[in-house]
Amino acid sequence: MKISEALEERNVPDVLSPFGKRITTKEEFESVKPAIKKLLAEEEYGYIPPKPDRIDVEDLPIDYHEERFAGGAAKLSKHKLTAYFGDESASFVFSSAIPAVCGEKMPIFININFGDEIPHKYQPTEEITDNGCAVFTIYYEDVSSDNGDFENGCAKLLCKDRSHPHAPGKIAIWAWSIMRVIDYIETLDIYNPDAIAVIGHSRLGKTTLLTAAYDERVKFACANNSGCSGDAITRGKDGERIADITKNFPFWFCPNYLKYAGREDELPFDQHYLLALIAPRHILVGTAEQDTWADPDSEYLALALTDEVYKLYGSTGLIHTDGIPGCPVRLAEGDAYYHKREGVHYLARKDWLSYIEYIKSKL
Ligand code: GCU
Repeated sequence: MKISEALEERNVPDVLSPFGKRITTKEEFESVKPAIKKLLAEEEYGYIPPKPDRIDVEDLPIDYHEERFAGGAAKLSKHKLTAYFGDESASFVFSSAIPAVCGEKMPIFININFGDEIPHKYQPTEEITDNGCAVFTIYYEDVSSDNGDFENGCAKLLCKDRSHPHAPGKIAIWAWSIMRVIDYIETLDIYNPDAIAVIGHSRLGKTTLLTAAYDERVKFACANNSGCSGDAITRGKDGERIADITKNFPFWFCPNYLKYAGREDELPFDQHYLLALIAPRHILVGTAEQDTWADPDSEYLALALTDEVYKLYGSTGLIHTDGIPGCPVRLAEGDAYYHKREGVHYLARKDWLSYIEYIKSKL
């Protein structure tokens, strides 16, 4: 099926005419980016909390077994980050695994993950460091719980007034924590501004995209199976819809987003606007054939529609044919990347290794 056929009847807004006038240059696109950011903040995710006055990072003890991690081929550490706003502060813990020998073009991942174990089913740490990459890991619920309780963790300080229509949801708060870990990485000897990659699976893939859209320090955004309200076009989407996501997880978003349940057509944007904020930096979309809840075709369409923005910057975007790809497929020639692998919703080793190979090819 052709892309145009797949888009027929979806009535997706044109990212090059986000406010009426058609955009034809990268300068014009840069000039509308703040308004697109405002739109997404006010209608979907809420405003990401501001940068703190300062951060402190304290090293925490790790146990003897962790010290021997990877037989000495990588150094594992745990840290506690405290962000200060005047006299108030909020803290969370993160870990790092850094190869004993760091290459000059070493990818530096920040993985916002579903657990704090190292390794974890979604983070094959030893394979990552053996492949010459550093990985910093945030356990997302250490930042704030994955529910409607805004009184715990960093949410208590960062989102006091949930009654405001643009108040940040949990996705915005998790994104804020990634930005703080990047603040820390910037102070390290290994820091390379070209090599910062954020990765997350599913709800944390949505978090990854939001972070990259609002923080230009992210050069590679790896959104794994992020689907609804992440990397998938919302209009005409299969599987999960706004009505489902806002019923089950209203706290991921700003209160304003709830009004679009069953009314996708009234959204003044679609998810490719979020991706367009990341271009011309690298977007890596990973999908799974049986992940129909996320809808791999709608994920593909969002990325393909972002191409026009990449082109404004003289970049290739996703190199693809005019069709919806079958499975398996790996499109890794352009400045944007897409894969569809066999199987179900999961962040597999295969996904990691594919992202790593692509990132290395671009460094
Ligand atoms: C649910 C939710 C998805 C989300 C997923 C996950 O299935 O509906 O939107 O991506 O959880 O985070 O695992």
